Amino acid sequence: MSDGNVTSRAHAPVGEEGLGGTGRTAKLKIFRGDASGGEEVEYEIPLVEGMVILDAVLYIQAHQANDLAVRWNCKAAHCGSCSAEINGIPRLMCKTRVEEFEGREIHVGPMRAFPVIKDLVSDVSWNYEVSSKITPFTTSQKAPFTMYEEDVERLYEPKKCIECFMCQDVCHVLRTHHKHPEFAGPRFFVRNQWLEMHPMDEADRLGDLKEKNGLGYCNITKCCTEVCPVGIKITDNSIIPLKERVADEYYDPARWLMRKIQGRRNGGRNGS
Ligand code: SF4
Ligand code: SF4
Ligand code: FES
Repeated sequence: MSDGNVTSRAHAPVGEEGLGGTGRTAKLKIFRGDASGGEEVEYEIPLVEGMVILDAVLYIQAHQANDLAVRWNCKAAHCGSCSAEINGIPRLMCKTRVEEFEGREIHVGPMRAFPVIKDLVSDVSWNYEVSSKITPFTTSQKAPFTMYEEDVERLYEPKKCIECFMCQDVCHVLRTHHKHPEFAGPRFFVRNQWLEMHPMDEADRLGDLKEKNGLGYCNITKCCTEVCPVGIKITDNSIIPLKERVADEYYDPARWLMRKIQGRRNGGRNGS
C-alpha cells in the first residue's frame, strides 16, 4: 500500500514492471466455442506472483484474443459471476491461483450443466426461473415473534450464498441426468431451507419440495457442499433437514392417517 492507494498483487496488471513478474510463463488451455461446439485453444502468458485464473484469462483477452468471452464482476469472490470449470471442477476464477497448478496442465471451460453461450460464459437464466417459482417469504400473522439465538445462527449460513451456481453445475442430477424440469438443485434447497426455517414465515413449501422440486432425487453425495466457495454445508444443513421435514410430513403413518381423515371430512377435496 502507498499514499492511500492499495496495490493488489493478486490483481496487478500482468506484465507491468515491478509488480511481481516471476520471469516465468504459464500455459492455459481455454475452451473457445459456443452451443454448436468448439475446442480448447492454448495460450501462454507471463506469470505474475499471486495471479489468479481470472487475471490470466483477462490478460489473454487483452493481448491475445480480444473476442474471448468471460463473465466477471467483483474480482473478490463476492458476486458469483466468474464461475467456470478448471480442470473439470467448478471454481471461481477470481479465487483460484495459477500457481496451484504448477507442473500440471490448466484447462478452463464453461459450466457444463447449463447451455454454453460463448467460450467461458454459460446461460444460467434457468436458475432464476426456478427461483421465481419458490413460494416467497410469507409473514406470519402470529405476532409478536420470538427469535432465539439458534434461529439466527441457522438462518445466517444460507444467506451467505453468492449464487455462483457451482453447486448446481456439479450435481449429477442436473449435470448427468438433465432433470432440470423436475429438480430445483442444491442452491434452491439452500434457499428453501432459509425460508422454511425462518420463524416469521408461515408458508408451507414441503409439498413443492417433494413434488415440483424433486428433493427425493438427491442422494446426498455431498458434491455440492465440496464446491461451495462460501462454505455452506449444503447437504448437512439444508438438504438433510428438508428431507427430514418432508419425511415427517408425508411418510409418517400418523400424519398420513390424519390427512386421510381430514380429506374425508372435506369431501375428499384435500385427501391423498
Ligand atoms: S448432495 Fe444432492 S444436491 Fe448435492 S450434489 Fe449430491 S445429489 Fe446433488
Ligand atoms: S450454495 Fe454455495 S455453491 Fe451453491 S450457489 Fe450458493 S454459494 Fe454457490
Ligand atoms: S468476479 Fe465476482 S466472484 Fe469472481
